[in-house]
Amino acid sequence: MYIVLIIIFATIATKLLYKELKFRQERHKNPVPASPKGGPFFDSRLRKKLQPTELILKRSGITKGMTVLDLGCGSGAYTTDTARAVGKNGLVYAVDLQDEMLAQLKAKLQKEEFHNLNNIKIVKANASKLPFKPNTFDLVYLIDVLQEIPNSLKALIEIKRVLKPNGILAITEYFMDPDFAFKSATVKLCEKAGFIKQNIQGWFFFYTARFTRS
Ligand SMILES: C[S@@+](CC[C@H](N)C(=O)[O-])C[C@H]1O[C@@H](n2cnc3c(N)ncnc32)[C@H](O)[C@@H]1O
Repeated sequence: MYIVLIIIFATIATKLLYKELKFRQERHKNPVPASPKGGPFFDSRLRKKLQPTELILKRSGITKGMTVLDLGCGSGAYTTDTARAVGKNGLVYAVDLQDEMLAQLKAKLQKEEFHNLNNIKIVKANASKLPFKPNTFDLVYLIDVLQEIPNSLKALIEIKRVLKPNGILAITEYFMDPDFAFKSATVKLCEKAGFIKQNIQGWFFFYTARFTRS
């Protein structure tokens, strides 16, 4: 009896795994932006338990006074805490391709708890063509975004352009994201764009890779 149950369970698990791998492979071939319907989950308590804000900001190296680009900010799950981390003398640009995502961030900022945050600028833009002057940012971070961008290499070269000469690029990836990339793939892509690997913190399934521009 137990053997039959084990076989049924193993068959279902294998089918689900195969389906998930196929889905990921398809997304990898044809990258598309995450659905705005996911916005509430991205900014939920459960998500923050899985990908804690403090840990990501610490690994990324966000400190007071920085001018930071939250690229592919989505519903702003990490934007407000970044704004607090950089403080009054810092600035956060929250950039996303999709109006529906930015609308969720704007609605979030209407909440009383965020009324004192005056250092967030929301900009609609494509990562492959950023509307910023060269040498603008101390740090650019992407959380679960890079592999969603169709021409990710072009986007990285664009990021390089807007970073200050000693600026930092911080890429966070989490395996539950269907567009997850392993450390080796992230490093290879960033190095191809001319970035220099500084360090990678975290396990293979949830890590932040930091690079310098030069
Ligand atoms: C999985 S969500 C993550 C959102 C947010 N970083 C977070 O961790 O909650 C990926 C976001 O990247 C944005 N995105 C995808 N491609 C983009 C591009 N080419 N330019 C700007 N944003 C992009 C999507 O619109 C989406 O909001």
